[in-house]
Amino acid sequence: MPTSLLLSVGVLTAAPLTLKKAVSAAPLTPAQKADYAQVIQPLFDVHCVSCHGPKKEKGKLRLDTLEATLKGGKNPTFAIGKPDSSMLLARVFLDRTAGDVMPPKAEKALTETQKEALYAFVEGQPIPADLAKAANADSQAALAAAKAAANADSKARK
Ligand code: HEC
Repeated sequence: MPTSLLLSVGVLTAAPLTLKKAVSAAPLTPAQKADYAQVIQPLFDVHCVSCHGPKKEKGKLRLDTLEATLKGGKNPTFAIGKPDSSMLLARVFLDRTAGDVMPPKAEKALTETQKEALYAFVEGQPIPADLAKAANADSQAALAAAKAAANADSKARK
C-alpha cells in the first residue's frame, strides 16, 4: 500500500476518536486560560515556537496560541486533567539524553521550575503564584540569553 494511502486510512480511523476526545474534554476555565497566557505561552514562545510556530511546524504542531496547542500536531498534545496520557508532557519530561526529548538536545533545556508549572497546568491545577513567578523568570532569562547570543553572532559576522 502506498504510504499516502496508509496515512489517510490512519487519519480516517483516528478521526472519530479525536472527535470523542474533543467533545468530552471540558473547556478551559477563565483561570486556566489566564495561567496559559501568563505562564505557559511565554514559555512556549521562548523554547518551542521557533520550531512549532508560523515559521516551522515540526511534527505538524504549533504552540504559538492556546487554540493551536490544544489542537495538537500529528498526535494530541494533552487533555487538561490527564497529565499521565500527555505526549507533550512525556517528551518534555524525558531524560535530556533521550533522542525524543523536547526541546531537542541541542537546544536550551527547560528548567525544573518551568516543567513543574507546565505539569500543574496540564493537571488542571492552578499554577501557584510563586511557581508562576519563578517559571516566568526562567523564561525571561532564557529569552535574554538567546538575544545576547544572537547579538554576539551578528557582531561576529560584521
Ligand atoms: C529545534 C527545533 C525544536 C524545538 C525548539 C522544539 N521542538 Fe518539538 N519537535 C521538533 C521536531 C523536529 C519534531 C518532529 C519529530 C518528532 O516528533 O520528534 C517535534 C515534535 C514535537 C512533538 C510531537 C508532535 C506530534 O504531534 O507528533 C511535541 C509534543 C513537541 N515537539 C513538543 C515541543 C515542546 C513542548 C517544545 C518546547 C518546550 C518543543 N517541542 C521545542 C523540533 C523542535
